[in-house]
Amino acid sequence: MFIHILGSGAGGGFPQWNCHCRQCRGFRDGAIQAQARTQSSITISADGIHWVLINASPDIRQQIAQFPKLAPGRAVRDTAISAIVLIDSQIDHTTGLLTLREGDTLELYCTEMVHQDLTSGFPVLNMLQHYCGVNWHPIGVGGEAFTIPEAHGLKFYPVSLSSKAPPYSPHRHDPHPGDNIGLKIEDTNSGKNLFYAPGLGEMDERIAEYMQDADLLLVDGTCWRDDEMSVEGVGQKLASEMGHLAQSGENGLIAVLENMSKPRKVLVHINNTNPILNENSTERALLAQHHIEVAYDGMDLEI
Ligand code: MLT
Ligand code: MN
Ligand code: ZN
Repeated sequence: MFIHILGSGAGGGFPQWNCHCRQCRGFRDGAIQAQARTQSSITISADGIHWVLINASPDIRQQIAQFPKLAPGRAVRDTAISAIVLIDSQIDHTTGLLTLREGDTLELYCTEMVHQDLTSGFPVLNMLQHYCGVNWHPIGVGGEAFTIPEAHGLKFYPVSLSSKAPPYSPHRHDPHPGDNIGLKIEDTNSGKNLFYAPGLGEMDERIAEYMQDADLLLVDGTCWRDDEMSVEGVGQKLASEMGHLAQSGENGLIAVLENMSKPRKVLVHINNTNPILNENSTERALLAQHHIEVAYDGMDLEI
């Protein structure tokens, strides 16, 4: 399976347009060594020809331009994106759907809950009926697998997890299974699997089992500390209130990953306030000590 990181940043990207926090400012004036990051999305393929887009970020136009395999040009209008899978209905994962309006009918795989959000609080799917149209394929949250006709050799297992529906969701304060999912994606030829969860609020035994069994983890790298937004002076919300498990701390993600020996561990969905974006930071060095990598835009992985 080929995995390409289209966007490794969280909502807002890095640097964020209006942000002058330590990191965004440091990036702009060259005071820190760091790479710019677009918003959260990956694409995967078993054959290198048919690609599945997982999440459609507001930066998708730029992301496609930077990864020409998605625009092979076999016809006057053409894309290599066979289907789109959404893991939630957050702005950073869904507004890119609007950019895809010029293409053929979108083959969209998401849960009932995400579909509800995208036809009510943020009715992007209703809007798209006036452009390309959307063919919705409901996906379950009980562990049952699904396949995508053009994505030969890939099997998808959606796993419901604890994170947060977006502020405009009817279930923002009334969580339902399927508001957010993680995805186990198996390459049926090699038997290897990826576990992808850019929004992971809380661990539980079931999620830990999926993570332990993965060959590659692409997991929530949003915040280093739970109170990072207030420490950096950009807001009051805790990472946990936004559905993200911080990396540091006794029960943080580093501690969780410590006991998992099988998978390659890579953080995605990194917020602009997170000090791990600074390649010379002590936090970044600590991750390296724990054999945890930080995804960057354009990163290619293979399992
Ligand atoms: C989140 O995952 O909490 C988002 O990045 C928030 C957003 O897109 O504004
Ligand atoms: Mn996000
Ligand atoms: Zn910032």
